[in-house]
Amino acid sequence: MTDLAQAHVLVVGATGGLGSAIARRLVGAGARVSLAGRDESRLRSLADELGAAVVATVARDLTVPDGPAAVVEAAAAAAPLTGVVNAAGVVAFGGIEDLDDDTLDEVLLLDLVAPIRLARAALGVIPQGGFLAQVSAVVAERALPGMAAYSAAKAGLTAFDTALAGELRRRGIRVLDVRPPHTETGLASRPVAGQAPRLPRGLEPDAVAARVVQALADDERDLPSSGFSGSSD
Ligand SMILES: NC(=O)c1ccc[n+]([C@@H]2O[C@H](COP(=O)([O-])OP(=O)(O)OC[C@H]3O[C@@H](n4cnc5c(N)ncnc54)[C@H](OP(=O)(O)O)[C@@H]3O)[C@@H](O)[C@H]2O)c1
Repeated sequence: MTDLAQAHVLVVGATGGLGSAIARRLVGAGARVSLAGRDESRLRSLADELGAAVVATVARDLTVPDGPAAVVEAAAAAAPLTGVVNAAGVVAFGGIEDLDDDTLDEVLLLDLVAPIRLARAALGVIPQGGFLAQVSAVVAERALPGMAAYSAAKAGLTAFDTALAGELRRRGIRVLDVRPPHTETGLASRPVAGQAPRLPRGLEPDAVAARVVQALADDERDLPSSGFSGSSD
């Protein structure tokens, strides 16, 4: 078991639907959190809501090469970190002929390259017994037409997490790859390109967050899409 009441957790993507719900659940479990996002005003309002549990806030664009390391450094400088949860991401929809270079760059940079850079930086500060959780997606397990770049990025992230988990096992640092099904955060309504197909109703963000925080507390080592059954409310 990981005692979250003693933990300081950096939540990356804390301004998002899933990241903010995870931050709230971590604080509910007694953890202190540092919050990273891009939008400074939403970061400030979440920090106001969570009050004294917030150790630091840091606004950075994760697609620039030094962004992920800067976020880790700022949080670790404020107080020693127990773990990092990465819930930043974007999605794009549409066929391959319509996939332009800017979209391809943004999806791969934020959903695959930034998590790798974040992990590299986090390894230097996460102690034995600590954790890194990366929010991948169900499309890492079943790639979908019309979401090829997003599916490829998430499958790449899950492969990276699997390899990293093996590398870090001896150091006692846990890597949790999280692959939620569709969740009602509004992500699909603000894609960087294209338009979402009609989707069935997704899971509630707070239920997904509760499941992620439970997995952190219970020292789970993988959280596939099937691990969210029963997370509908
Ligand atoms: N919602 C779903 O159905 C679903 C399902 C499976 C997996 N996921 C994954 O879950 C994660 C969170 O998604 P969500 O649904 O919570 O989406 P969301 O509400 O749109 O949140 C996205 C987060 O990513 C941050 N972000 C976007 N571009 C950034 C950049 N260039 N630099 C730094 N931060 C950036 C946003 O920060 P700002 O708002 O401050 O810009 C926000 O905090 C993503 O990785 C997504 O792929 C989502």
